[in-house]
Amino acid sequence: MARNIAVLVGSLRQASWTRKVANAMIELAPPALAFQVLEIGQLPLYNQDLDTATPPGEWQAFRDRARPMDGVLFATPEYNRSVPGVLKNAIDIGSRPPGKSVWAGKPAGVVSVTPGALGAFGANHHLRQMLVFLDMPALQQPEMYIPAANKLFDASGALASDATKQLFTRFITTFAAWVERNHRPS
Ligand code: FNR
Repeated sequence: MARNIAVLVGSLRQASWTRKVANAMIELAPPALAFQVLEIGQLPLYNQDLDTATPPGEWQAFRDRARPMDGVLFATPEYNRSVPGVLKNAIDIGSRPPGKSVWAGKPAGVVSVTPGALGAFGANHHLRQMLVFLDMPALQQPEMYIPAANKLFDASGALASDATKQLFTRFITTFAAWVERNHRPS
């Protein structure tokens, strides 16, 4: 049976490199994984005052889609050496109310993406810090810091090099094994 993986992309930009990288990994993934991209741009900003028995409908819909997933793949750009606020907002929404986090126990993969040189290391590790508190076992190796993301794709939008394909395939295949080993029945 395929494991269901939520994909959270930390960029709302239409031509996002991060989303292109996430899509490339999804295409290279083994059939053991079934992906659902959970959109996060429509989520109202988290406000604890609104987190009542009747929270905003967008929060509820997001929580309802995330809860039954077997694992989560985070693909994030780096904003000011951290994750974009839109991704933090989605993570915060899913984490509440206390004791009802949709993230708890779900195995996670972290991919950080930038057209710059440093592979968005700061965003990757700020995200990993959150995953500790959220009780999400995060795949350690291979780490995925993707620099120069604007050079990875050819004019048709496909990955330009076999080396990149192999790297992404190794990551997503290892992630599939990680999910199989660590997922908890929901
Ligand atoms: C950036 N960018 C950026 N890049 C980086 O490598 N490290 C950083 O700390 C930052 N900081 C930063 C802050 C803000 C507010 C913006 C808008 C951008 C550049 C960023 O990597 C670039 O815009 C990417 O294209 C964003 O990812 P997507 O949208 O292409 O997926």
